[in-house]
Amino acid sequence: MVEFQHVTKTYARTHTHALKDVDFRIRKGEFVYIVGHSGAGKSTLLALLLRRIAPTEGVVAIAEQDLARLRDSQLPLLRRRIGMVFQDHRLLPKLSALENLTFALRATGFRGNQEQRALTALRQVGLAHKRKAFPIELSLGEQQRVAIARALVTNPPLLLCDEPTGNLDPDTSWEILELLNDVNIKGTTVIVATHSRDLVDRLKRRTMVLRGGELVRDDDDGGYSL
Ligand SMILES: Nc1ncnc2c1ncn2[C@@H]1O[C@H](COP(=O)(O)OP(=O)(O)OP(=O)(O)O)[C@@H](O)[C@H]1O
Ligand SMILES: [Mg+2]
Repeated sequence: MVEFQHVTKTYARTHTHALKDVDFRIRKGEFVYIVGHSGAGKSTLLALLLRRIAPTEGVVAIAEQDLARLRDSQLPLLRRRIGMVFQDHRLLPKLSALENLTFALRATGFRGNQEQRALTALRQVGLAHKRKAFPIELSLGEQQRVAIARALVTNPPLLLCDEPTGNLDPDTSWEILELLNDVNIKGTTVIVATHSRDLVDRLKRRTMVLRGGELVRDDDDGGYSL
């Protein structure tokens, strides 16, 4: 599903070696944590998967396809197949929960019944009853669930999350993680970059540890230790 072959990423302007010879494979249907101190390279790894940035050396591939070989015209399709959840969910404040989802769908060129598809995604995160609420009328945890629904609205086979529980209290963080686990059980490959020791220890899954841009540990049993 996802493959990094000896990937190095150097940010040229600042001479920062954000990733060094990182090599791994993630199979379809896996749930993987990426952990590491601030600056270890977690967000860089996710940005490479979205082809927001290009590797300095090595190959990044999704579904056997080398992302460097994708034409620009193929990028919208790639991004439709990858859902992304950020720490600061970036919902549009002037749109309701439902409208945030239909807006995202429209942006990907989805042609079917947008409202129905959006409502299904809101139902998936248990928030269909809040479809008319604006982001400011939702709790932070609810906002994050809407952001997850928005990432899932195109039914992507791959979901990337960058600190999805960063601003949330422990109980709400756990709810978000259970939701991601449900999504994974239904077949979506899920990759979660996180600092949260609690979560990684509580729901044990494959854990990759980055240190100074190097992949120093990759354990199926998981557990947090840097
Ligand atoms: N656009 C950029 N230009 C130059 N350097 C960058 C850029 N983005 C990140 N870096 C540097 O690359 C390194 C890795 O950053 P990255 O954002 O991937 O870390 P991270 O593990 O996500 O950290 P955090 O936990 O703080 O989010 C850091 O040293 C950072 O300063
Ligand atoms: Mg980051």
